[in-house]
Amino acid sequence: MGLPTTIAIDGPAASGKSTLGALLAEALGYLYFDTGVMYRAVTLAALQNGVDIFDEAAIGELAEKVRIDVAPPSADDGRDYDVLLDGQDVTWEIRSDAVNDHVSDISVYARVRNAMTDQQRRIALENKVVMVGRDIGTVVMPDADLKIYLDASVEVRAQRRYQEMLDRGEQADFEAVLGSLKNRDHIDSNREIAPLKPAEDAIVIQADCLGIQQVLEKAKELVYRV
Ligand code: CDP
Repeated sequence: MGLPTTIAIDGPAASGKSTLGALLAEALGYLYFDTGVMYRAVTLAALQNGVDIFDEAAIGELAEKVRIDVAPPSADDGRDYDVLLDGQDVTWEIRSDAVNDHVSDISVYARVRNAMTDQQRRIALENKVVMVGRDIGTVVMPDADLKIYLDASVEVRAQRRYQEMLDRGEQADFEAVLGSLKNRDHIDSNREIAPLKPAEDAIVIQADCLGIQQVLEKAKELVYRV
C-alpha cells in the first residue's frame, strides 16, 4: 500500500489541528485545507450584512450564496494563506472575537453544513489533501485513508490560544478565552448534525504534554505505517 492520500484531522478548538495539518501537508506536498475558515467566513458575512445569526433560513441562504476562496498568501504578516469572501481579503477578520462568539451558532444549521460539506468533498476529490475540522473523518471524508483526532484539555487549549493572541500583540483575557472555548466545545459536541467526535476508526492523539514537533512526529509515524 502507498501513502494515504486523504488525511482527516479533527478535534476541538485550539487543539493544534491547524498547525499540525499545515506542517503535515507541507511535508507530504499535499493540499492543506482548514474547513473552519469556511464556517468563519459565513459568520463574518452574516455580521457584515446585518443578517440575524439566529435566523436559520437567512443564514442558510447566505451560506449557499457566498463565495469563499482560499489562496496562497499575498502578505508576509504571519498568514499561511489568504481567505477571500466574495473576493475581499478577510484572513484576519475571520479570527475576530465577534466571529469566535457566533461561529458555532451558525455551524449547527443543516443548510450551512450541506453547502460547506459539498464544497469540501469536491476539494477532497480533486486533490491529495490534509483536511482539518470537526466532522472530516465522520461526515466529509468517511473513507479517508488516515483519520487523526487531536485532543487536549480545555485548560491547555485556552492557554495556547491566549498565548497566540499575546504573540500577535492583541489584548487577551485568559478567563474570557477559556469561557469562549468551553462554549464552542459544548455547542460543537452536542449539535444534532455532524457533532464533534472521533470517527470510530480515528487514531486519537492526546496532546496535553506534547509540543507541536512531537505531535507531528506521531502523525508522520501514522502516515508511513498505513
Ligand atoms: O481554529 P479553531 O480550532 O478555534 O476553530 P476552527 O477550526 O476555525 O472552527 C471554528 C468553528 O467552526 C468550530 O467551533 C465549529 O463550530 C465550526 N466548524 C464545524 O462545525 N465543522 C468543521 N468541519 C470546521 C469548523
